[in-house]
Amino acid sequence: MKGIILAGGSGTRMYPISKVYSKQLTLIYDKPLIYYPLSILMLGGIREVMIISNSETIPLYKKLFEDGSHIGMNISYAVQAAPNGIAESFIIGDKFTGNDSVTLILGDNIFYGKLDFFYNALKNNDGATIFGYRVTDPERYGIVEFDETGKAISLEEKPKMPKSNYAIPGLYVYNNEVVSISKNLKPSERGELEITDVNKEYLNKGKLQVVKIGRGVAWLDTGNPQSLLQASNFFGVIEDRQGLKVACPEEIAYHNKFIDRADFERVIKNMPDSLYRNYLERVLNDEF
Ligand code: DAU
Repeated sequence: MKGIILAGGSGTRMYPISKVYSKQLTLIYDKPLIYYPLSILMLGGIREVMIISNSETIPLYKKLFEDGSHIGMNISYAVQAAPNGIAESFIIGDKFTGNDSVTLILGDNIFYGKLDFFYNALKNNDGATIFGYRVTDPERYGIVEFDETGKAISLEEKPKMPKSNYAIPGLYVYNNEVVSISKNLKPSERGELEITDVNKEYLNKGKLQVVKIGRGVAWLDTGNPQSLLQASNFFGVIEDRQGLKVACPEEIAYHNKFIDRADFERVIKNMPDSLYRNYLERVLNDEF
């Protein structure tokens, strides 16, 4: 299974900072936003990841993660010339995906809690597996409608009159067919290759599974300044209470045995003195 993080876009909702800075590098409490989706892929055991973004931001991601080998990952990078739509990821990532299955996560999507919904999807996917999450403002998202037996019957991208309160989060598990489906898509009215159109294609073929994510899981939005602040506060409260970090890729790499103790020590040694380093030293000394 390959992983793609789509972390570009125009970010105009974050203007004026978006003139010079990528949203996915914004601090969510104590670490950049992109650490959260990267951690989800790592927790799912996905070690080959491609980060797709615009040409100005790719060098910054490269500086942040290099080739990923220090955390037992293989991280590559590709440029999306313009925000032509989420489904363009699979066209850009065509060679990277090869004949594999692929999980896409949007670089601004954060999940927290029991991730079994995702682990099960990785094990059982036969076509496409996407998720449904109850929200109060469904018109802002891709929406899934279920029949009385819980089967998905329709999908719509940001409908004015949503047929349900179930939004589709930016985490999608696909078999290899997603590449050819994306290549055959036509741009929508707003000129984008829509991920919802990819999912509709799987739905029409009877190959789409939509799994509801329960209320014990937090799916946080980071679409505007207010939601970024809420996400920071959320993780600030949890991390300060437990003394444990959420979405710390070095810790996940060590616990998941992507790297051994000597590698982990080396990673820590290469960090400047900081609260982040102090935390990893405590992980190394098994203080938790
Ligand atoms: O967050 C989940 C939602 O994400 C889904 O429910 C929707 O179905 C899906 O279309 C998407 O909606 P958004 O309104 O959040 O899409 P947005 O255009 O904001 O893009 C999401 C992220 O992907 C954002 O961080 C920018 C990045 N992006 C987006 C596009 C269209 C790219 O890097 N390139 C792109 O071409």
